[in-house]
Amino acid sequence: MARLAFIAVLSLASLALAQTIQDGTEATEENVAPAVEEVQVDAASSGIDYFPFESSQLTGDIITNLTNYNLSNVEVFDFSDADNALERRTTRVCKTYPGEKGWPARPIWFLLNILLGGALIEGVPTAAPCYSNWPQYDEAKCAAVTSEWGTPSYQLSQPLGIQYYVFEGVSCLPPSLTRTNATCTLGGMPSYVVKATNVAQVQLAVNFARNLNLRLIVKNKGHDFKAKSSGAGALSVWTNAFSSIQYLGSTYTHGPSGYKGPAFKIGSGVQALSLYQAADKLGLHIVGGNTRTVGIGGGYIAGGGHSPLMSMYGMAADQVLSMEVVLPNGRFVSVDEKTYPDLFFALRGGGGSTWGIVTSLVIRAYPKKPVSTLTYSFGIGGDISKEAFWKGIDAVFAKFPEYADKGMYSYWSIACFGDCSFAMTPQWGNDMDSAALGTLSTPLFNELAALGINVTDAVYTNYDGVISAIDGTWSAESEQGGVWNFNTASRLFPRSNWEDPTKLAAQTAALRTSVEAAGMILGYNVKAADNPSLNQTNAVNPAWRQTLLHALLGVTWSQEATPGDIAAANKNLVKMMQSWRDASPGAGAYLNEADINEPDWQQAFYGSNYAYLYQLKQKYDPWGLMWAPTAVGSEDWYITGQVDYYPTQNGKLCPK
Ligand SMILES: Cc1cc2nc3c(=O)[nH]c(=O)nc-3n(C[C@H](O)[C@H](O)[C@H](O)COP(=O)(O)OP(=O)(O)OC[C@H]3O[C@@H](n4cnc5c(N)ncnc54)[C@H](O)[C@@H]3O)c2cc1C
Ligand SMILES: *[C@@H]1O[C@H](CO)[C@@H](O)[C@H](O)[C@H]1NC(C)=O
Ligand SMILES: *[C@@H]1O[C@H](CO)[C@@H](O)[C@H](O)[C@H]1NC(C)=O
Ligand SMILES: *[C@@H]1O[C@H](CO)[C@@H](O)[C@H](O)[C@H]1NC(C)=O
Ligand SMILES: *[C@@H]1O[C@H](CO)[C@@H](O)[C@H](O)[C@H]1NC(C)=O
Ligand SMILES: *[C@@H]1O[C@H](CO)[C@@H](O)[C@H](O)[C@H]1NC(C)=O
Repeated sequence: MARLAFIAVLSLASLALAQTIQDGTEATEENVAPAVEEVQVDAASSGIDYFPFESSQLTGDIITNLTNYNLSNVEVFDFSDADNALERRTTRVCKTYPGEKGWPARPIWFLLNILLGGALIEGVPTAAPCYSNWPQYDEAKCAAVTSEWGTPSYQLSQPLGIQYYVFEGVSCLPPSLTRTNATCTLGGMPSYVVKATNVAQVQLAVNFARNLNLRLIVKNKGHDFKAKSSGAGALSVWTNAFSSIQYLGSTYTHGPSGYKGPAFKIGSGVQALSLYQAADKLGLHIVGGNTRTVGIGGGYIAGGGHSPLMSMYGMAADQVLSMEVVLPNGRFVSVDEKTYPDLFFALRGGGGSTWGIVTSLVIRAYPKKPVSTLTYSFGIGGDISKEAFWKGIDAVFAKFPEYADKGMYSYWSIACFGDCSFAMTPQWGNDMDSAALGTLSTPLFNELAALGINVTDAVYTNYDGVISAIDGTWSAESEQGGVWNFNTASRLFPRSNWEDPTKLAAQTAALRTSVEAAGMILGYNVKAADNPSLNQTNAVNPAWRQTLLHALLGVTWSQEATPGDIAAANKNLVKMMQSWRDASPGAGAYLNEADINEPDWQQAFYGSNYAYLYQLKQKYDPWGLMWAPTAVGSEDWYITGQVDYYPTQNGKLCPK
């Protein structure tokens, strides 16, 4: 029966017939209602109400009512465990691609849009107004798109916008920002986008994609470095509008974790700055990144989340008390330590776009505390020799265990375009004033002076809390989006390297060799503090629990770079990183800020959790519905037409 129903869909699709209702008329907004039921129950785990957008759900009753409409092939919208569910795909085949037999015909997309309440957007590249082969061609609009392109919030406001286009495939950028004579295609961008404003729409999209074997992607802010939120021929679920923030009070109690204290319930589309502001007004801090535009409850927490506060309170993923999630089977569930404990484990650190689509999270908050920052720099030149400079670097690095153990976050860089220089930008002291930070820094400055390095530009600044410290430290413009001229690799260096002078020297030598070759490295001296009141068993890369230094190395290319040039630069990056891997055997890398070409990425990004996570992936997503490059289980699939060292999202997704 189920099989027959599915074949009926295929033939309907290829004949491009309209969906009909009982009296034979076509389905329209007038005679078919959006597929949504208002469900008023507490979210089981958090013990608090759903957000209004979460009460609007797809239910079995709704599917039954669709049957009453006598729409053909209602099964394509149904849950995997429904009585009349379509046959489970045990044999995986390539995801159905636009233009292929089986790709839904326009009337079916039209019906989907009606059931979604009009939330379906057809994929059109953001820069299409710049290209005469697109119906959207419009010189004035092109100029507007071009001028806004790189501003921090523009890409995240666009249905197809992403921060980094290189691994999407650089398919369509404004002409002045891309190669001479570039063309504009949809490329690695999705065919359709569901601009989700309620849970029912997410469920419908998940069921539709699973039942019709379509590629499904999830985009929140589109900030991913590896284009994990893009994909050719995909249906995209856009979670950006899940921006609700609710304060749960200062004595919120969550039984399973034993937590009692301040907490927020946040939608997965909440942007860091909004949450910082909401917390600040209440005299609170939350563990978030150092930028304003990142999606706290999307890819950031899913990947672990490092923060200026992490050396005090642990990582962002450690702050989660419960989550609401649409599973690959289409069901909407609450998860925490008691309910779906295995999923709760995976959703915190096991990577985005893998386990389900998160709609909201309950996270803990902390009392607002003052922040003090210190910036300084020194470099080769004048009285400072190359030898003295690298001895100075040794002196700085030697302080990392102490600094992290004091709850600090130190963001620094070494640049070697010509003579090398070091910049601390900044050292960030939590619950400190400049006097306290000065006391901690003076010994280092004395050691540097003894090496002949006079630091003359040290600046201490006091702030009342995180927002003012971010505002005083990083400009909003620095969160520029829409670029494609670089790729980054990273490494989490373990504390054990500081406990053995030979290892520490080898680590510094590796960093030195690579920065002298590549020009620049960035580093975060932090630790993932234990959070004694919570059980931190989660999927955060175990390498994070050992680290004192998350360091990044990048390669860049010019605006005329060919795919071959990009592949060559990426290959060189993998090669340069080998000395970092050799200096930190068995450690890993932060999956949210890592190289898509990382060798043995399963070990590097997930460590000893990988085998277990892979099992969970089969348990919750036997269809391989949720796929993203380097996500758990992604090795079972490939994208057609990929070039070595330059994998893009511009191809068909097929099983290996
Ligand atoms: C300017 C900038 C600053 C950054 N600063 C920091 C920092 O300080 N600390 C840090 O740790 N990282 C930082 N990052 C890295 C950041 O954590 C990752 O880019 C992360 O992937 C962003 O998540 P997103 O939801 O904003 O982006 P997206 O690209 O939309 O999503 C990333 C991944 O998560 C998936 N995903 C998103 N939402 C959901 C959801 N609701 N359910 C399931 N899967 C979902 C997507 O499918 C994708 O696979 C920064 C990145 C940028 C661009
Ligand atoms: C539903 O449609 C089929 C043909 O598409 C028709 O045979 C059947 O009578 C219809 N059922 C109802 C309840 O209208
Ligand atoms: C299903 O349809 C019936 C009859 O039209 C209606 O009364 C009921 O409210 C509908 N149920 C839902 C969940 O929409
Ligand atoms: C761009 O196109 C023009 C006109 O076809 C051609 O003359 C020029 O050589 C092209 N430039 C590049 C870099 O391909
Ligand atoms: C460093 O500064 C001290 C005091 O400010 C000064 O006496 C000394 O000469 C300086 N050394 C160098 C190498 O500039
Ligand atoms: C922490 O989690 C582990 C694994 O789920 C469990 O075995 C242990 O009992 C938990 N500890 C506490 C204090 O809840």
